[in-house]
Amino acid sequence: VHLQGAPLVSPQDDEVPPDAGPGITSTLVLSVFTAVLGSLQCGYNIGVINAPQKIIEQNYNATWLARHNASIELSTLTTLWSLSVAIFSIGGMISSFLVGVISEWLGLVSGLVPMYVGEISPTHLRGALGTLHQLALVIGILIAQVFGLDSLLGSPELWPLLLGLTVAPSALQLVLFPFCPESPRYLYIIRNKESKAKESLKQLTGRSDVSEALTEMKEEKRRMDMERKVSITQLFRCRIYRQPLLVAVVLQLSQQLSGINAIFYYSTSIFESAGLEQPVFATIGAGAINAAFTVVSLFLVERAGRRTLHLVGLAGMMVCAVVMTVALVYLDRVPAMSYISMVAIFGFVAFFEIGPGPIPWFIVAELFSQGPRPAAMAVAGGCNWTCNFIIGMAFQSMADACGPYVFLIFAALLLGFFLFTYFKVPETRGRTFDQIAAAFRRTPSLLDHEVRWQNQPAPPFASSTHPSSPL
Ligand code: GLC
Repeated sequence: VHLQGAPLVSPQDDEVPPDAGPGITSTLVLSVFTAVLGSLQCGYNIGVINAPQKIIEQNYNATWLARHNASIELSTLTTLWSLSVAIFSIGGMISSFLVGVISEWLGLVSGLVPMYVGEISPTHLRGALGTLHQLALVIGILIAQVFGLDSLLGSPELWPLLLGLTVAPSALQLVLFPFCPESPRYLYIIRNKESKAKESLKQLTGRSDVSEALTEMKEEKRRMDMERKVSITQLFRCRIYRQPLLVAVVLQLSQQLSGINAIFYYSTSIFESAGLEQPVFATIGAGAINAAFTVVSLFLVERAGRRTLHLVGLAGMMVCAVVMTVALVYLDRVPAMSYISMVAIFGFVAFFEIGPGPIPWFIVAELFSQGPRPAAMAVAGGCNWTCNFIIGMAFQSMADACGPYVFLIFAALLLGFFLFTYFKVPETRGRTFDQIAAAFRRTPSLLDHEVRWQNQPAPPFASSTHPSSPL
């Protein structure tokens, strides 16, 4: 059933054109759903390693004992376990850099999800649909946490199956992707296939007249043809990309170095050392809160805007990290502190999903026009996965070294990211890709235009052909 469609361009900041319906068609739903199965799979891999830690460690120990006739040393076990947790992000690092190349001639799975979803979504739904990447990811984490219960698949016999189940979403994607249209931006701007792009737009919007969306893409292509395709090296060299690149990279760092994956990889042992009797259930609680607040963000992101939500999220996480530290420090003296620390961890996760969870993933696609977008996604993704690896690998040793104070490190980092976001990150809500890129191009100081963006309504069109635009 095709609902009434909407053009890809919404001319005013937070207004949907009066003749536009919700802009959601069954094809758009199918395409976004199929794409975010990749995110679900990614989330499954993040969440799956948490609960069965003890069982798999026992397995390592038994193997070690059989091979060396002695128990494994604690430090060796910590290193081995940290590597087991973090190793999958190496795949993420490598594939992030392949996204640019591969997206030119194929479609692919999770690395491309935010880019594909951003490109097929109408402007006024781009944030909400972009957040679906994160929503699917957190549902993946939650499913993995529940399956990880020892009464389900987290048992000494079944844990290999628990890890192997990750193949299921890919299998479903293989079946569904043939029914999804190619990104119209890709078809028109990269492949120069106007009639195919039109066809895809018609399918996605449910409209027979897609001229408005096509005009926007034409304008983007016109400028891209002048811009030429941008490689990763050029992205670093070219001055006009410096600001958006800095913003994109720091937002990725703010997501990973907030310490969120310390929770998602290690919460069971954190809850255990905080004195909780049922740490696995507390882990599932964190997963459920994580999913619930991603839904909250989904509704807020087109209203409050990306910048505000990111700021609120970072500030909230910082406060929770401090409360958690105080609770852990006083744990010995005040037993109720174990519950305070649990609430602080839940709050930490909730605030993460308000902004720092979903926003960095899709904002990169918004900050760059088609030419530099794949290179920018590669760099941003590479940074994200590298930091993910670092936290996965280092957290256990950091926790051993700093004891209850370990989250203060994250609190300090969060403060830095808050300040950066406050001073440097612009609002992108309700603007076409082209308007955002044009604003970066024309404004020497991002801080300058960021203030204007907040205080002025969006101009009808902020294109470079209109030099007197208020942007
Ligand atoms: C984001 C992060 C991921 C993290 C997840 C938690 O998607 O990229 O590393 O595990 O949020 O919900």
